[in-house]
Amino acid sequence: MGVADEAAHRPSVRGAAMKMRNVFVGLAAVALVTAAVLIIAGVGLTSAQSSSVLAVYAQHNRHLPPTKGSQTFQYAYPAERRFDASQVFDPTPPPPKPGLREYTLVLEENVEHEVAPGVKMPAWTFNRTVPGPVLRATEGDTVRITLVNKGTLPHTIHFHGIHPSHMDGVFELVAPGASFTYEFVAAPYGIMPYHCHTMPASQHIHNGLYGMLIIDPKEGRKPMKELAMIMSAFDLDRDGEADFYAWNGRAFQYADNPIELQQGEDVRMYVLNMFEESMVPHLHANMYHLIPTGTALKPTEFTDVKTLNIAERAILEFKYDYPGTYMFQCHVSEHMEQGLMGWFNVVGRNQKAASSPPERGAHAHGH
Ligand code: CU
Ligand code: CU
Repeated sequence: MGVADEAAHRPSVRGAAMKMRNVFVGLAAVALVTAAVLIIAGVGLTSAQSSSVLAVYAQHNRHLPPTKGSQTFQYAYPAERRFDASQVFDPTPPPPKPGLREYTLVLEENVEHEVAPGVKMPAWTFNRTVPGPVLRATEGDTVRITLVNKGTLPHTIHFHGIHPSHMDGVFELVAPGASFTYEFVAAPYGIMPYHCHTMPASQHIHNGLYGMLIIDPKEGRKPMKELAMIMSAFDLDRDGEADFYAWNGRAFQYADNPIELQQGEDVRMYVLNMFEESMVPHLHANMYHLIPTGTALKPTEFTDVKTLNIAERAILEFKYDYPGTYMFQCHVSEHMEQGLMGWFNVVGRNQKAASSPPERGAHAHGH
């Protein structure tokens, strides 16, 4: 990787300053714990010491900014900027269809991607979106995917699923300017992630080179309204802690542009965790039938939270009995507060499309 690349992916490193700050915070914490222990032990404190301890306790009685997050971006709710509909990643997957499926994925580096309202990053992309396009095939049919590498580094596509070694996208690095066609028989049915596998994968994947391949069972599934939803996160300052979490690549996009559903309509949501922390897809005021990995025809569980570990995925099937606006989120509070949330706007049977969505911070701040 060149120096320029390195610089492009370190938009605001303040390492030394942050380390110093961490040291001070650490020392302060030690001092406070010591003070608390002294109080409990009945040891007398000076009035200055006890008032500083009281000040800390007082902090707990009012709302604080969202948790941890990143040193750089943790308080960023850019309220002055909202995503418009033209930016939103369309969650509708391509329809199921038997026969050969052919796709071309053009890989580019440093494509400007607005990851949260007003916050742009130089993403690495398949077909200029993060995540890449949703691909779809039917079990037993041939899928043919051509990778065109328009970047400056070698890249690959590694698909989950069952296929021969030379189609696994690990050994056959595709040089800059070159292309490569992956061809295999789609198997097994389920939700299969795809992502670049060039090292360092932590950079190639988390800069945006990932997506979802849906493989349908031969006999098909019951037709429903379908949504393809990838949970992921973005560490813009590369300090090892994510700055934004998102459904389909943009924090808060489905709060700014709610997904419309119909009252009583059956919905199938394909969910994939593409980040290296556990994710917990959660629907409000509802429950879902869960098919782990999408590799079965029948659900195994009826719940409203399911922890998806790293790269795990699941089909969630549900319907809303009542019209209204409902949150869908990751149940990890930090993830929700940093963007992994949105609204379903459920339109009543005798009702037109609804009014404007609630403020995205309304839930997080408890109003
Ligand atoms: Cu790559
Ligand atoms: Cu999460």
